[in-house]
Amino acid sequence: MRAKIIGTGSRLPDKVVTNDALSALVDTSDEWIQSRTGICERHLVSSEQENTLSMAVQAGQSALKDAGIAPEQLDLILVATVSSDFLTPSTACMVQKELEACNAAAFDINAACSGFLFALNTVDAYFQAGIYQTALIIGVETLSKLIDWSDRSTCVLFGDGAGAVVAKASEEGMIACLQGSDGSGGDILVCKSRTNNNPYAHTVKDLDYLFMNGQEVFKFAVKKEPECIQSLLQQAGMKPSDVDYYLLHQANYRIIASIARKLKLPLEKFPSNVSHCGNTSAASIPILLDEVNKKEMLKKGDTILLSGFGAGLTWGAALLKW
Ligand code: UT7
Repeated sequence: MRAKIIGTGSRLPDKVVTNDALSALVDTSDEWIQSRTGICERHLVSSEQENTLSMAVQAGQSALKDAGIAPEQLDLILVATVSSDFLTPSTACMVQKELEACNAAAFDINAACSGFLFALNTVDAYFQAGIYQTALIIGVETLSKLIDWSDRSTCVLFGDGAGAVVAKASEEGMIACLQGSDGSGGDILVCKSRTNNNPYAHTVKDLDYLFMNGQEVFKFAVKKEPECIQSLLQQAGMKPSDVDYYLLHQANYRIIASIARKLKLPLEKFPSNVSHCGNTSAASIPILLDEVNKKEMLKKGDTILLSGFGAGLTWGAALLKW
């Protein structure tokens, strides 16, 4: 049995922040941000009530409704995030409590922007092993709390949000998936945790906001993501043109366009929402999937390919029948 997606949902914060609004904070411009990234605006949390948990719960509820599944039918909840509200309990356990999904095991996965794919592929492996049958998978981030808002090279790129899918063990659905990591390249995209301040530790106040070497991440993305897509298609015995839609991690429209060029495919096969969401890390692919689903762009039997890359370094892809 493989993972079949039977429902999608998402939640974006109500507060929309335009590029012009950011140019009041840092030395930037709408022209620079749009031409280098394709981003026009992003959604950011703007109240104490809005956080990683609240967005995850709302996206999860909406995916359950779309799937026609009751919370108690879930036997697994996976949340992909690097921006949990708590170090422990996990966001997945807190979602389980809020949804009253009392029969589900729940845990978080940290694979940065590839997190949703790592979670989907983990669910697929559990289904193939016959361990679980019905899972809720959520990608959620409140990256706005990890950003240095005086650093123009990162603060213009990211947004907050959550996307979710319900997956059921089925004869059809997942065709093939893969994931990979290269920890040796991890220092190009880093966000340190808190430093130790126990009475015996040598405490150094360290940089605890997100740091990114944008050009190196760009080079990694435009090399690794097409390779990952090609090897997944090879594994499935398919050609790039056999896929109806490519739903890629939404980091930068130039990266998406470069991948389309390398695969010699028209941009119409690459739906994008980076212009209004920015980069929402682990949430970006499920938010896009929900948008495409709600627009009724996907027909039963369509072949879709999800793929992303991120900190770690990590990369992943999944090829599915809709
Ligand atoms: O989910 C994965 C995470 N991240 C990514 O996928 C990001 C991958 N990288 C990128 O998307 C691009 O590298 C960026 C969008 C981050 C940067 O674009 P770039 O074309 O690589 O610009 P750059 O870093 O080479 O900077 C060019 C110039 C620099 O000025 P000088 O040295 O040429 O005078 C920067 O200081 O642009 C300057 N700059 C800005 N100017 C206005 C950097 N950020 C800004 C800004 N507004 N926000």
